[in-house]
Amino acid sequence: MKINSRHLRSELVHSELANRINYAQCWEDEDVLQRALRVGPGDRVLSVCSGGDNSLRMALDGAEVVALDLSQPQLAVTELKLAGRLLPYEEHLQLLGLLKAGRRVGLYHRVRHDLSEASRAFWDANEATIRVGVLKLGRFERYLETFRTRLLPLVHRRSTVRAFLELGSLEAQRAFYEERWDRLRWRALFRMFFSKTVMSRMGRSPEQFAQVEGPVAEAFLARAKHAFTELPVATNPYLQWMLAGEYSDLECSRSYLTRAGHAGLEDAYERISLVHGDIETVLPRAGTMSAFNFSNLFEYVPPEHHRLLLELALEHSRPGARMAYWNTLVPRHRPATLADRLQRHEELSAELLGQDRAFVYGGFNLETVL
Ligand SMILES: C[S@@+](CC[C@H](N)C(=O)[O-])C[C@H]1O[C@@H](n2cnc3c(N)ncnc32)[C@H](O)[C@@H]1O
Repeated sequence: MKINSRHLRSELVHSELANRINYAQCWEDEDVLQRALRVGPGDRVLSVCSGGDNSLRMALDGAEVVALDLSQPQLAVTELKLAGRLLPYEEHLQLLGLLKAGRRVGLYHRVRHDLSEASRAFWDANEATIRVGVLKLGRFERYLETFRTRLLPLVHRRSTVRAFLELGSLEAQRAFYEERWDRLRWRALFRMFFSKTVMSRMGRSPEQFAQVEGPVAEAFLARAKHAFTELPVATNPYLQWMLAGEYSDLECSRSYLTRAGHAGLEDAYERISLVHGDIETVLPRAGTMSAFNFSNLFEYVPPEHHRLLLELALEHSRPGARMAYWNTLVPRHRPATLADRLQRHEELSAELLGQDRAFVYGGFNLETVL
């Protein structure tokens, strides 16, 4: 694994976005991404890093991955996840805060030598985060925790939440949702908590809402209903974490947290490069790609900037390259002016969006290079 630090030119670098852990985990469904990009040995992927889970998944599946982020803390999180390969499986989980453990910082010191200088400096200054549990402590995860510990108990008992998360069929989920979950109080508090104002203050960054128009809570409520009634809850790691603050079954969590994933990290480590920088700087130097995971990057920028980034990606694409990205609230897809170079797959994209267990998204795009 290589770490390249660069002089960064994005304005965002100087904002608080770049100086803290915003996402300790990825909240975009790794299975959806892999069904869209279908990467494996022989592929080269440019992937927005965030919490690193989805980049690790593609490296575990055999692809060469360049995972980039303009935020050094996001790379430090991902490096720590990779460094866990040096520990036995259970200790790797403990290091990240998943099992009860009184010696997480001791585990950190056993893998500290594996980190780049920048990530080592970050974790040395943030040992308290490791002690409490890294995976809970991104800004977004803390927002989810506030939802789970402050708001959810006003609506449902823990036993009700547990009973719901253990249901074994969609019929049972739909009946439970109608009869026990979807109360007036649930809808009212949900609308309040997921309003643009509260989310900007507590969860997502104000930058993420700069391009958003109109009310957002109603859209999130409809998406939550879809996840509660149309997708199996017992195997949905994203919902399990949001409602219970843990994974009931690690084999249905994130690939790198499964036993097989842990065993595969040593090989994945050789296939992944973590690069510090913004996409405009990194992409021209990263070589030619067969796939791109743009996360939901494009909804942070105006349409014109989205088009320029797609053009840049096109310049560095192999023929037939696949591009995937999500939209939460801002509609973005390949503009008509690029129709002769980039093909949209609207039907498949909509189908994949419907399967997205992370469910907060309003759009998913698979686009392929012509
Ligand atoms: C777009 S955010 C969204 C996170 C995502 N929804 C998730 O669930 O993980 C993902 C990451 O993109 C990074 N980022 C934002 N703009 C970027 C840019 N221009 N170049 C590189 N990374 C960028 C942020 O620092 C953040 O860590």
